[in-house]
Amino acid sequence: MTTKDTTAPLLEIRDLAVHFPTPGGAVRAVNGVSYTLRAGETLGIVGESGSGKSVHVLALLGLLAARGGAGAIVSGSVRFEGQELIGRDEPALRALRGRRIGVVFQDPMSSLNPVLTVGEQIAEALTSHGLGRAAATRRALELLELVGIREPQRRARDYPHQFSGGMRQRVMIAIGIACEPKLLIADEPTTALDVTVQAQVLDLMRDLRKKLGMAMIWITHDMGVVAGIAETVQVMYGGRILERGPVRAVFHDTRNAYTLGLLQSLPGAAGAAHRSRLTSIPGQPPDMTRPPPGDPFAPRNRFATPRCFEEVPPLAQVPDGAPGHLVAAWYDLRAALAAEAAA
Ligand SMILES: Nc1ncnc2c1ncn2[C@@H]1O[C@H](COP(=O)(O)OP(=O)(O)O)[C@@H](O)[C@H]1O
Ligand SMILES: [Mg+2]
Repeated sequence: MTTKDTTAPLLEIRDLAVHFPTPGGAVRAVNGVSYTLRAGETLGIVGESGSGKSVHVLALLGLLAARGGAGAIVSGSVRFEGQELIGRDEPALRALRGRRIGVVFQDPMSSLNPVLTVGEQIAEALTSHGLGRAAATRRALELLELVGIREPQRRARDYPHQFSGGMRQRVMIAIGIACEPKLLIADEPTTALDVTVQAQVLDLMRDLRKKLGMAMIWITHDMGVVAGIAETVQVMYGGRILERGPVRAVFHDTRNAYTLGLLQSLPGAAGAAHRSRLTSIPGQPPDMTRPPPGDPFAPRNRFATPRCFEEVPPLAQVPDGAPGHLVAAWYDLRAALAAEAAA
């Protein structure tokens, strides 16, 4: 057989847990996250600030030190292309980052070097993985063109401060995809951009994903962005996955009250399908030095049952749901909503 099996898992995370020791106790940032990403698949990860979205990807990339503190992986396994990443040394992880796994973070101003031209920085991403200088310089121009920057010859000689926010984010994307990675991890890459520029960057990513055939993990706190880019959505809260599945299933056959809360707080038509008035989720995310013993969302969930406060619900297939639609909940959201509507 010469055809490649695109359903083979590219990334397999099992029971990943990350803690930060602090004087007030360990911050339990990630608490047993497990999921699989297929080659070419786009996964959107959503959740409010502090849900553990960034920390879990920093952990798998070997970049926890970038968060400060003494964050450490306390358990779990991360296999990328069949190879275990946890426990690999820094040179091995560095070789993987950029070449096989590209990353794009939120703030291009702090990620780009202010004293190097944009062309030099893209070329550097290539030479650091072994491409010769002349070829890297040529390829940098192609990449600028690919991410939609006009007059690449001229713009390559500019410094980051000479670019707008949206254009800087395109430069970051060019660096992220420079080595044509199998997986691109983008952590809130459009959060700082205005809506129009955000839409342009999303268009660009949809286009690049097809051209390069790469898988993507797209992290955002915005359900609307997920709908625009992902095939699979995963909702995180309190360092756990509360719901996961095909975007259509999770949006239209929602089974977790937290997911519903995120959808109801969406502005515009997308949110209107889920609410009668604009709402935001009442209450505060938990103190992760003392996470609730059961379902982390129970204290904010009006549908919580006594069991929700005592025992962590497992993430399991929705029995009458779409294949791959998983939920962690002791309550039956559809029944609870129907009862509420009847009352
Ligand atoms: N250096 C650190 N020391 C202590 N706690 C941290 C540190 N970095 C992150 N955390 C905690 O880890 C949790 C998850 O954070 P994060 O993954 O950044 O959330 P998200 O990306 O979903 O907004 C939060 O409770 C955050 O306060
Ligand atoms: Mg984050």
